[in-house]
Amino acid sequence: MPEAKPYIREFERLGFGMFIHWGLYSQMARGEWIMKLQGIPREEYRRLQNTFTADDFDARAIARLARRAGMKYIVLTARHHEGFSLFDTKGLSDYDSVHSPAARDLIAEFAEGCRAEGIVPFFYHTTLDWYQENYKDDFDSYLRYLQQSVELLCTHYGKIGGMWFDGNWDKPEADWREDELYGMIRRMQPEAIIVNNSGLHRQGGYGHPEIDSVTFEQGRPQPMDRKGKSKYVAAEMCQTMGAFWGYSGSDFAFKSPKELIEHLCACRKVGANYLLNIGLTGTGSVAKLQEAMLETVGEWLRVFAPAVYATTPCGIAGHGEDFGLAGEDGKLYFFVHRLSAAGDWNVTVPSGGVGPRTYTGVRKKIRSVRWLDNGEELAFVQDADKDLFSFQATGYPYGIDYVVRVAVAVVEE
Ligand code: GLC
Repeated sequence: MPEAKPYIREFERLGFGMFIHWGLYSQMARGEWIMKLQGIPREEYRRLQNTFTADDFDARAIARLARRAGMKYIVLTARHHEGFSLFDTKGLSDYDSVHSPAARDLIAEFAEGCRAEGIVPFFYHTTLDWYQENYKDDFDSYLRYLQQSVELLCTHYGKIGGMWFDGNWDKPEADWREDELYGMIRRMQPEAIIVNNSGLHRQGGYGHPEIDSVTFEQGRPQPMDRKGKSKYVAAEMCQTMGAFWGYSGSDFAFKSPKELIEHLCACRKVGANYLLNIGLTGTGSVAKLQEAMLETVGEWLRVFAPAVYATTPCGIAGHGEDFGLAGEDGKLYFFVHRLSAAGDWNVTVPSGGVGPRTYTGVRKKIRSVRWLDNGEELAFVQDADKDLFSFQATGYPYGIDYVVRVAVAVVEE
């Protein structure tokens, strides 16, 4: 198996990131595809630029929220399919935030706000474009515009975590001249992660050899098969918190904190990052529900952080969703799902089993196991010949339900 380059391994260690969709569409509060799906003519749609104030956009506060949520990076839509840029395009186009009532370079604020909070900034950039007319009739000149735009993002905002492209699926047969685009990024930002979303229908699909991570848009990430590959490529699953990426004022389809925690664990199970989306409102604020969700997931992460970031899959499998990870600290981490509460059946709703949890693939001799949250020591047995390791999962103390609970094992050197 190919070795992961250090900057790719660093990306995997980030583990959990925030995706932010924000653009002119946010003012309509009906998702980011509203222009296309409602067939709004370009000239009519572009009037949204005249009311784009960004009055409530506070990049530092958003980065702080991400940090509190346990997220280590943010991917912000510098330009989405609608074609409007949140950065100063320096004459490439006047369809950008400096030519709106906001009159600010929001990407500059974003990069700065992230760094102040220890968060790594990434830029999402659309490759398809509903605004640029040459996207349809002069693809060469469009590609030049795209490259120049990306070059601005790679040269004016300090060191970035990566570029996250999306839209090549719109013209699968076209020559996107990816060599040139990625080559330029490598020159300007040698350690930037390059992603190009393979889309809903090609989850986990490999693309151009310069790509550093595959995507699992709205999916359950699958284990990566890296045998015979010339390069180690990371994996990331991006997901909406409600039904849409762009802000909607009529979205009642939100996932629960329970589901978000389960998705995060499902990603880490296969070594993938989890990129969880919020849609900012038209003025750039974070909606209360989304904020509360992030705070809640962050509380879970404050308890279980050692199991989530500096850990990698190592072939330990349990029953159902259960699995184990190897920590860079030399410890093993066992993830336990559907654990029920200890106590009185009249007041606790049982969600799964209390009792032995068994795992295969534990290659080291275990010395002790305890819950990561309260340090309680757990009884265990290990049968190396049968490749079985099993510990007694005691139930949640009454009043607590972590959804997924993690036990940490100390192993013999
Ligand atoms: C899709 C959508 C887009 C969204 C993206 C996020 O490709 O076209 O609106 O930004 O997924 O993964």
